[in-house]
Amino acid sequence: MNRIGIIGAMDEEVNKLKEHMSDIKVEKIAAMDFCLGFIDEKEVVIVRSGIGKVNAAICTQILVDRFQVDVVINTGVAGSLRNEINIADIVLSTDALQHDMDATGFGYEAGIIPRMETSIFFADQKLVSLAKEVCREEIPEIGIHTGRVVTGDQFISDRRKKEWLVSQFDGYCTEMEGAAIAQAAYLNQIPFLIVRAISDKADQSAEMAYAEFEEIAIKNTVRLLLGIIKRL
Ligand code: ADE
Repeated sequence: MNRIGIIGAMDEEVNKLKEHMSDIKVEKIAAMDFCLGFIDEKEVVIVRSGIGKVNAAICTQILVDRFQVDVVINTGVAGSLRNEINIADIVLSTDALQHDMDATGFGYEAGIIPRMETSIFFADQKLVSLAKEVCREEIPEIGIHTGRVVTGDQFISDRRKKEWLVSQFDGYCTEMEGAAIAQAAYLNQIPFLIVRAISDKADQSAEMAYAEFEEIAIKNTVRLLLGIIKRL
């Protein structure tokens, strides 16, 4: 692996990881600080994209064009869409799609991107397997789930919206960047993985839970990411 791109939407999601970097050089592009350096002798570029799909897609394209990354890993928190997925558990992406892509008025199903050959973007299976292995070894106390990430420019904090996401897309967790990064990675033919720790249940309790559990959720992703980088 030559160069690993790591995207988090918020400072909280990337700062703890950056503390493990050496020889850091920072380049600002599109108002994003791309931090180049090394973790465990692996070359990494860690960047805070900002929240939402547009920021995430722009960030991924810059990682590809300007930093020639060979792989993109998206880390952060998410809302759980399943009863058995608890706060602080981790979801590894099998695939990702955009729940707010809506051309239903034109006869397409919800989530389908018109005139693209696919709207479901699959994570790299080797990265998923590696991440599972790292989870088992490094954070055995945490529940690990592998499934679909559903992304949209919405913070989900409503039971009915959550139920719609589950029935329509059979997602494991919901967040605001993953599928945009996945689509950009797909278009550029580079492998990706989304790693999300659960901060809330994407229902009425989400706002309160998020504030309380964000920090602990992020700690788990940092442990996992360090383990993945070491083994790549
Ligand atoms: N990120 C963390 N929790 C989320 C939620 N409930 N909806 C969207 N993004 C999130």
